[in-house]
Amino acid sequence: MIDFELTDDHKTVADLARDVANKYLRPKIQELDRAYKADPEFIEHLKEADLLGVCIPEKYGGMGMDYISLGLVCEEMEYVDTSARVVFSVHVGLNSITMLTWGNEEQKQKYLVPQAKGEKIGTFGLTEPGAGSDAVGILTTARKDGDKYILNGEKMWISLSDVADHFLIFAWTDTAKQKQRDHSGLSCFIVERGFDGVTTGSIEGKLGVRAGKTGWIALQDVEVPAANLLGREGEGFKIAMVCLDGGRYTVAAGSTGLIRACMDASKEYALTRKTFTEEIANHQLVKEMFAEMVYGYEAGRLLWLKAGWLKNKGVRNTRETSLAKWFCTDQAEKAAYNAVQIHGAYGFSDEYPVERFFRNSKGAAIYEGTREIHKLMQADYLLGFRKDKKLRNMPPAVG
Ligand code: CAA
Repeated sequence: MIDFELTDDHKTVADLARDVANKYLRPKIQELDRAYKADPEFIEHLKEADLLGVCIPEKYGGMGMDYISLGLVCEEMEYVDTSARVVFSVHVGLNSITMLTWGNEEQKQKYLVPQAKGEKIGTFGLTEPGAGSDAVGILTTARKDGDKYILNGEKMWISLSDVADHFLIFAWTDTAKQKQRDHSGLSCFIVERGFDGVTTGSIEGKLGVRAGKTGWIALQDVEVPAANLLGREGEGFKIAMVCLDGGRYTVAAGSTGLIRACMDASKEYALTRKTFTEEIANHQLVKEMFAEMVYGYEAGRLLWLKAGWLKNKGVRNTRETSLAKWFCTDQAEKAAYNAVQIHGAYGFSDEYPVERFFRNSKGAAIYEGTREIHKLMQADYLLGFRKDKKLRNMPPAVG
């Protein structure tokens, strides 16, 4: 029997997320965005509300809620601004869930527990200046030297690179396999900001998500203890893909928040703004844009909820998550485009939020798997070129 009802716990956590975002981010967001500034206090408020460990088990310092709860938090965050949702994508979706899945007990106690409590922030470093979609094209290396690895390389387009305390860094441990583009030469490491040779910086002049930090991480002869290898040597590519199953889910869920924000802002405007003697909401071509937003929101929400339901059951969901990410980000872009159109000239100005929504909607169709990567994945699943195998480690089932 399929149950479409959210539980009381789901409603409570969504209410909490909405309250935090409305109270602490909404009043400031327009100014922060105009000034390209992130508000470090906002992460503190997320920590106080215990949201930074929303779906991490209580025994590891989290709230112990399910993956649907994580999706609902992302939807509420992105309803206010994409920068708020991005915190959950990298800290929870890409990093903490991965640590929970692949970390040994010592790593979980040392890194996951403070992350779930919000005392430390985590992010994810796969992408490089010359490799985004082509994950095996990365150049970062990790050379084994006794009981440590020496990391060298550069990571780019990393959300919270200037803020995070812990990074999951992907690097080649087998350079012969690197030459053959054999992904089983890649490994994953937990790197601390404080390790010698780690430097980070911000990328300026971004089109969107201006109230969020995006940047680079440089690794120069960074000595990483062998104890910080996550999973086994050679499992890095699979770990990265499991990370992305978590991250893409948060992006999908967040995008439905952006669509809802576009619908609400546009509705308010269209019911008051008059042209040709009546409110523009009465014009059929305007109605068409609203209808498309409803279509994107309702269908997108079902897609990410299904992926979340599979995650709760501990079932492989790469295909469903990829579809949800593609559809929801696509529809968010369309909704934001239509929201600006509905607002007419006012939509072209930052006096109204839809201009920010429009700029913010673009990045999500690029990061964590471009629209084109997801199209290829979906076609390959259908054609039988791609199959999801059983994995050594999966994020644990909940509920
Ligand atoms: N979970 C676990 N294992 C997986 C997996 C998953 N989701 N997907 C693939 N694998 C496994 C496969 O089973 C396969 O295993 P075997 O070799 O044992 O058979 C192996 O990984 C290779 O899989 P594929 O053949 O599917 O790999 P591919 O070379 O065809 O790559 C790809 C597919 C879809 C293009 C992949 O490279 C991809 O998703 N690229 C996009 C990467 C991406 O999203 N980058 C953005 C990162 S965002 C960022 O870094 C910024 C930030 O701030 C967060």
